Amino acid sequence: MKLMIDDAHIEQIKKIYEFYPVDGVTTNPSILYKVGRKPFEVLKEIREFIGENSEMHVQATAETAEGMVEDAKYILEQLGENTFIKIPAIQEGFKAMKILHRENMKFTATAIYTPMQAFLAAKAGASYTAPYVNRLDNLGYDGVQVAKDIHDIFCENDFDTEVLAASFKNSQQILELCKYGVGAATVAPDVIFSLVKNKVVESAVDDFISDFTKLVGEGKTMKDC
Ligand code: G3P
Repeated sequence: MKLMIDDAHIEQIKKIYEFYPVDGVTTNPSILYKVGRKPFEVLKEIREFIGENSEMHVQATAETAEGMVEDAKYILEQLGENTFIKIPAIQEGFKAMKILHRENMKFTATAIYTPMQAFLAAKAGASYTAPYVNRLDNLGYDGVQVAKDIHDIFCENDFDTEVLAASFKNSQQILELCKYGVGAATVAPDVIFSLVKNKVVESAVDDFISDFTKLVGEGKTMKDC
């Protein structure tokens, strides 16, 4: 399962890239709003930092299919290789998806709340579809199960499309999808940091250091012995 950062704050992205194995960055208009700077100033900074080997997923914001396609072309011009255009899975979006597919532009169908939206997006040629796991949970549905169902639909129908699960609030939701082998998850920085932060783990490592210090002395590590 690929792991991506669902955020546009460059300092957070740099910190996560320094410590953890991640595969790319996803944004949406609300994420860009939270940063509060000019969209392409921020997006280009991210692209420059992560390089062309990492994926970027950036949303078209026009409300018509034609406008979404124009947005897509502009985004690709600005951000280059390995950029996926996020297209909302609404009626105009599906029309845009068919055009993007014909013109060989890679896209991610977003705002997925139902397996049928994902099925149609896969038929339209999406590389990824992004079900909103936690937002589904908040509506009283089982977001993890919806993401799993979409994964199964893609397997059963021999689609090349992958699930790019989004909207997580805890590590259990992500773990369930890792176990199921879905294609990718995009996760906000605070949830990424919480995947590892755990008092029991920290205490175990503190005990090792304390015992070793008693054995060899303060500040010494294996290379000093
Ligand atoms: O792009 C969709 C995803 O970012 C939604 O996440 O946390 O706003 O529900 P959230």
